[in-house]
Amino acid sequence: MVDDEDASTPYGRHRQTSVYTTGMLTGTVPDIPVDPDRLAERAREELDGRAYDYVAGGAGGESTMRANRRAFDDYRIVPRVMRDTGTRDLSTTVLGQEFAVPVLLAPIGAQGIVHEDGDLASARAAAQWDVPYVCSTQASEPLEDVADALGETPKWFQLYASEDRELTRSLVQRAEDAGYDAIVVTLDTPHLGWRERDIDRGFLPFLDGDGIANYTSDPVFRDRLAQPPEANPRAAAQEFVQVFSDATLTWDDLAWIAELTDLPVVAKGILHPDDARAAVDHGAAGVVVSNHGGRQVDNAVAALDQLPGIVEAVGEDATVVFDSGIRRGADAVVALALGADVVSVGRPWVYGLALAGEDGVATVCENFLADLDLTVALAGYDAVDDVDESALRPS
Ligand code: FNR
Repeated sequence: MVDDEDASTPYGRHRQTSVYTTGMLTGTVPDIPVDPDRLAERAREELDGRAYDYVAGGAGGESTMRANRRAFDDYRIVPRVMRDTGTRDLSTTVLGQEFAVPVLLAPIGAQGIVHEDGDLASARAAAQWDVPYVCSTQASEPLEDVADALGETPKWFQLYASEDRELTRSLVQRAEDAGYDAIVVTLDTPHLGWRERDIDRGFLPFLDGDGIANYTSDPVFRDRLAQPPEANPRAAAQEFVQVFSDATLTWDDLAWIAELTDLPVVAKGILHPDDARAAVDHGAAGVVVSNHGGRQVDNAVAALDQLPGIVEAVGEDATVVFDSGIRRGADAVVALALGADVVSVGRPWVYGLALAGEDGVATVCENFLADLDLTVALAGYDAVDDVDESALRPS
């Protein structure tokens, strides 16, 4: 994928050379827009309205989504010069594992509504670029198949703890058996957020059988059904709605989950420093600072605004992942400078999936990494691990 000249800088220069050469020699421009807003707009044009709104929408009046983006404007990168950025290293170590890049693809459920290949296409694209992938409990394909598609690429499994503890136990065990490297327990979804777009459309993909493959393939879930899901898919979908989340969870339940597995547990959906501390005190090796991309609570704090306080609260005791509003390389640099160990991206690559399946996700990954690579270099760093607060204008 990378020619000799660019071998040491595979992301930024390589992508530029490829698009400019193709554009100037053949007049062909990339199919997938690079600007995240235009990418979303193209996906809106292609997708069924219900699917697009499910992905694009947020809770209530979507003010949290807007706040997520606005928060990045409070930080400015101070580029430094004459620092030899001829070769760059974007790799980092997360939970003791080498990541080629400091970026994860966030867990996204029900991908089958935007493309028939769903998670398998996304996982293959992640593997193409060695971008670590978080498989959702609500994947459109069983977690074992997603693990196969990822191959050697780092893989985390995102868990929605079920009301049925045996089902939770089974999902964790399956993830361990399938070779996942960590369990991400999402804590911010004891109830589904009030999503106006989906309410107006009366649309919930799971009731159509999309995003429940990890349930219908699970022996514990199947035992709960009077008939196999293949014979009565509607009853399986209804049963999923009954068991998918447990709104009674408290910190002791996180400790119970952490005890189920030898894998590191990462608590997702943390917005308060005290919650971050509690997560660590109850067995989490990491936290994901996230407001679920604005899909759960309207008028919630921007995730980025909470990042520095959470980094301070957990100190060296936990890995900090950041998501919610990351769209470009500069956003990642800001989050990393504020102390995140790795960032996670949601909607943009789902739009790539909608437009061109595996190739679409791969292109979004390629553009994001190219942008990140060049932004890190032009900020004056040859290693992403060196990016710290001094990259930003002191307030
Ligand atoms: C999500 N998210 C999510 N989170 C999770 O823990 N489990 C899940 O199954 C899903 N599913 C899901 C579906 C869709 C369509 C979206 C857009 C989001 C939240 C996701 O992991 C992540 O937190 C946000 O998407 C990050 O925000 P941005 O990058 O989309 O702004």
